[in-house]
Amino acid sequence: MSRKMKNKVLENLTIERIASEGKSVAHYEGKVVFVSNVAPGDVVDVRVTKGKSSFMEGEAIKIHEYSKDRVEPFCEHFGVCGGCKWQHINYELQLSYKRQQVIDQFQRIAKVPMPEVMPIIGSENTRYYRNKLDFTFSNNRWLTRQEIDSAKEFERNALGFHIPKRFDKIVDIEHCYLQGNISNDVRNSLRVFALANGITFFDMIKQVGVLRNLIIRTTSTGESMVIVQFGEDDKDAVEKVMAFLYDTFPQITSLLYIINLKKNETFSDQEVITYAGQDYIEEEMEGLKFRIGPKSFYQTNSDQAYQLYKVAREFAGLKGDEVVYDLYTGTGTIANFVAKLAKEVIGIEYVEAAIEDAKLNAQVNGIENTLFYAGDMKDMLNDEFIANHSAPDVIITDPPRAGMHEDVVNMLLKLAAPKIVYVSCNPATQARDVALLGEKYAVDIIQPVDMFPQTYHVENVVLLTLKP
Ligand SMILES: C[S@@+](CC[C@H](N)C(=O)[O-])C[C@H]1O[C@@H](n2cnc3c(N)ncnc32)[C@H](O)[C@@H]1O
Repeated sequence: MSRKMKNKVLENLTIERIASEGKSVAHYEGKVVFVSNVAPGDVVDVRVTKGKSSFMEGEAIKIHEYSKDRVEPFCEHFGVCGGCKWQHINYELQLSYKRQQVIDQFQRIAKVPMPEVMPIIGSENTRYYRNKLDFTFSNNRWLTRQEIDSAKEFERNALGFHIPKRFDKIVDIEHCYLQGNISNDVRNSLRVFALANGITFFDMIKQVGVLRNLIIRTTSTGESMVIVQFGEDDKDAVEKVMAFLYDTFPQITSLLYIINLKKNETFSDQEVITYAGQDYIEEEMEGLKFRIGPKSFYQTNSDQAYQLYKVAREFAGLKGDEVVYDLYTGTGTIANFVAKLAKEVIGIEYVEAAIEDAKLNAQVNGIENTLFYAGDMKDMLNDEFIANHSAPDVIITDPPRAGMHEDVVNMLLKLAAPKIVYVSCNPATQARDVALLGEKYAVDIIQPVDMFPQTYHVENVVLLTLKP
């Protein structure tokens, strides 16, 4: 049974549970079938989209019985847009599936003795919780099956999100429940303005078109940054668009633009031009100010970032005389957040601009016991670096989804700091690293935190202590 299963319909499968990365699991003749966009408890017919020797993947084409845990999705774009894929599952269950993912990954991959995983810290806001969204302009709007079947003519320009796995197709977004404040108004009125004024939307195949991308960042203090990326250096059109935003939205505190003539939308290597206001926005946490520039990383759910940092701080258990390393420090948020409880905090991060922000953030807050360095972690954290700095008493590490490079893990084993606080957005790679660290460290506490309601993503903090 393998490729020949493709397109076969498997009838009346009961969806049993959620596995890693939010995939729902059923069984057919003893073999695992991963099914998308369903909920545990559903009974469905599944059309196989991929047949491998050890598992199959498929999509539900008919639902015979709906799970009692289903709720009505609140967003009109649900099912088309790749965003909030778990809207059909009630929030309490989303939380329990997320916690279960952590348990599964640690049991399957880490295979080290571990305490019971703590109850997950849920998010008070399950809508409008993001402080950053990235929209794309396209002249190739995604049409739903219903729209195609209606044989009507539709506007083909769109401003919204990429369809999953389709780089060139954009779903036009009317209302997005992820970001509050002025986000929906700015996006929708800019679309109307552009269409009314004949300003072209980007063509991703031909790489032409004036309007390319729109980024909106907001803070809990009411500031907002709007960045427009243009795909052509059309001075008149640029001025029209920016003047429109400036006149219509006086609340924008940082109005920026980029002329991006490259093949992709990433702009870390592009000049960001200030049209009006500051070239940054400022977030606040426990009276600390964090300056966020257009290229800086900042956790996208500010309220839950605070919960996460409080957990990391509590696990670090600082008394005032410790040297702390904050690895993958980004803009130094965690480092600056714990600085007043430590003797010294050393932050290391790949992106130079983020390190500049980290230093600035320390300065803005009058923090004098932090040091920040830019570079690849596996090259930075070496014997010479340790010889030139104090050895760490506590290491806080918050790597990207891929987890830590093996050289970094080996260096942590060599350093043998009494405590490691490991923050991760990917429990699978975290569990892999914890397995390696298990040579010297015991797992003391495992605390999942929900940063992204309505999605399968889960953040997890682990406290590791050096074995006697
Ligand atoms: C999950 S973010 C953590 C940010 C920060 N702790 C915070 O809460 O704002 C991971 C960070 O690791 C950085 N990074 C990724 N790969 C790296 C590497 N090889 N060496 C150093 N830093 C890296 C990224 O630029 C990013 O800022």
